Amino acid sequence: MPLRVAVCISGRGSNLEALLRSLGPTDGVSVVLVISNRADAGGLAVARDHDVPTAVVANTATADDWLRVLEAHRVDFVVLAGFLRKVPAEVIAQYRGRLINVHPALLPDHGGPGMYGLNVHRAVLARGDLESGATVHGVTEQYDDGPILGQARVPVRPDDTPEALAARVLAVEHRLLPAAVRAAARTGRAVPFTLND
Ligand code: GAR
Repeated sequence: MPLRVAVCISGRGSNLEALLRSLGPTDGVSVVLVISNRADAGGLAVARDHDVPTAVVANTATADDWLRVLEAHRVDFVVLAGFLRKVPAEVIAQYRGRLINVHPALLPDHGGPGMYGLNVHRAVLARGDLESGATVHGVTEQYDDGPILGQARVPVRPDDTPEALAARVLAVEHRLLPAAVRAAARTGRAVPFTLND
């Protein structure tokens, strides 16, 4: 039985697209649902292009609303891929060990509330870091907390802009997240992995 995965997005959904393109029939993964908190998220069109059912779960949704949607689609495993809201604590508890997030920096640095999108890359440049990257971690009740499961590094260049760094990091996110999901499919749980998974 394939692992039944829901992917949660808030925006363009390039990580969702990379995941859908990367998964093959032998990976044991079926993306059965895409959840967005915004009805106008570009990633909903990505889901439709791949014939994946979608649901809009508003920012006001309760944990029960979330769990109803997840249970209706018999979701085993949840992936936050550019989902910029907090998931209700009861949902995190229900999916503990089966809920991961991709973050565009080398956690534990440059995480926490407000650390999303270009804010992250601005912080990396402001501190003068020589490298950045992407992290996949297990989700807990705190933003960008939880066990680090895999990372990919990229150099920071002297002339980088936040946009240029974001693009370099995004390219590795697109390899890291599918590897994380493939590794999880082997046990049904979020597990440490490498880019080769
Ligand atoms: C990605 O860079 C992801 O790491 C980031 O949002 C972007 C979504 O892009 N997530 C966070 O910053 C979470 N703290 P996408 O919609 O094209 O996948």
